[in-house]
Amino acid sequence: MIKPGSIIRNVGITATGMSVPDRVLTNQELETMVDTTDEWIRTRTGVIERHVATPGTPASELAKPAVLRALDQRGMKPEELELIIVTTITPDMFFPATACVLQEKIGAKNAWGYDLSAACSGFLNGLVTGYQAVASGTVDNAAIVGVDVLTSVTDWTNRDHCVLFGDGCGTFLLEPIPDDRQGIIDAVLHVDGSGGQYLYMLGGGSLNPPSHDTVDAGMHFLHQEGRQVFKVAAAYMAQATTEVLEKNGYTIDDVTLLVPHQANLRIIEAVAKRLKIPREKVLINIDRYGNTTSATIPIGVHEAAAEGRIKRGDLIVLTAFGGGYTWGAILIKWGCSPHFSPVG
Ligand code: UT7
Repeated sequence: MIKPGSIIRNVGITATGMSVPDRVLTNQELETMVDTTDEWIRTRTGVIERHVATPGTPASELAKPAVLRALDQRGMKPEELELIIVTTITPDMFFPATACVLQEKIGAKNAWGYDLSAACSGFLNGLVTGYQAVASGTVDNAAIVGVDVLTSVTDWTNRDHCVLFGDGCGTFLLEPIPDDRQGIIDAVLHVDGSGGQYLYMLGGGSLNPPSHDTVDAGMHFLHQEGRQVFKVAAAYMAQATTEVLEKNGYTIDDVTLLVPHQANLRIIEAVAKRLKIPREKVLINIDRYGNTTSATIPIGVHEAAAEGRIKRGDLIVLTAFGGGYTWGAILIKWGCSPHFSPVG
C-alpha cells in the first residue's frame, strides 16, 4: 500500500479536462415542456441553458473524453494512470463501479479505482481521498472524475426540478509536485445527515427496491425541498471557506478565485456577500451549464485555467454544498498554467 520510506508529498493538479453533451436545452424550450418561463428560470436560478445527454447515455461515456483530454494535456498515456476515483450520484449502474467501466473504456489497464457518492460535494470528497493516495505514496497519480447525468433522474414534468440541472464531467489529474508552496494545501469537509430529508432519491436502493409501485410513485426521480436547501447552502459554503482560510493563515482578500458549486446564482451571490468577495473573483458559469452536480467545480476550474483567470501561484478556494447534507471547502495554490507545463 504505502510505499516503504514514503513521506507525505505535495500534490498538485497537473492537468484538467471537461466534457458536456452536444445537445443544448434552452429555457425557451423548457417553456414548451412545463409551466415555466425564461424570466422565472433566469431570475430565480441564473440558468439560461444547459447541456443534456441523450437518454441512455451512461456517465462513463461523458467521463471518457474529459479524462482523455486531461491525460493528453499532461502527455500521459492511459496505461500510466494509477488510480481513478469517479464521484457521481448517477453511475452507469450500481455495480460494477463506473470507475471500472471507465478504466476499460480509456484503456487505463494499470489503474485501480472506485466510485464515491457525496452528491454535489462529491468532487471535493474525491479530491481529498485522491490527494491522500498521492500524498502518501500509495500511487503516483490519480484522476478525480466528477461526472453526473442528472437528467437521467429528472422528472421532466416537474417544473420545480427539471429547469435546474444539466449533464457534464470535469476531471483533475493529481500528481506529486516538488514545490511545497503549491498544490492542494488543505480541506474541510462536513456531513449533517439530518439534512437528508430535503434532498434525496428514494427508490432503487435497498430501502425501496425498484418495483412497479416505486416507479408509479416516481421514487426513481430526484426530490428536493428547494427552499429548505436554499436556506443553509450559502451559509455553509461561506463558513467552510472561512474555516479553511483561517486554518491556514489566509483571509478572503488573499483569494484570486472562489469556485463555488453552481446550484443557483442567488446562492452564489449570497456566498460572495457573506464572504465580502467581489463578484469578479467568483466563478459563475451556471448560466451555460445549470447544476451539473459533481461536475460543477472541475468544469469551473478547467474553464478558468483555460481562460487564464488563474495563474501559477494564485490562491483558489473550491466550495460545495449538496445532498446529505454534505459540504466543504478546499484551498489550492494553483500550480498549472493554462497550456500546462508539467511540475515534478
Ligand atoms: O445542488 C444541490 C443543492 N441544491 C441547491 O442548493 C438548490 C437550493 N434551492 C434553490 O435553488 C431554489 O429553492 C429553487 C431554484 C429550487 C427554487 O427557487 P425558490 O425561489 O426557492 O422558489 P420556490 O420553491 O419558493 O417557489 C416559488 C414559486 C412557487 O409558486 P407559489 O407557490 O409561490 O405560487 C413555485 O410553484 O415559484 C414556483 N415555481 C416555478 N414557477 C415557474 C417553482 N418552479 C418554477 C418554475 N417556473 N420552474
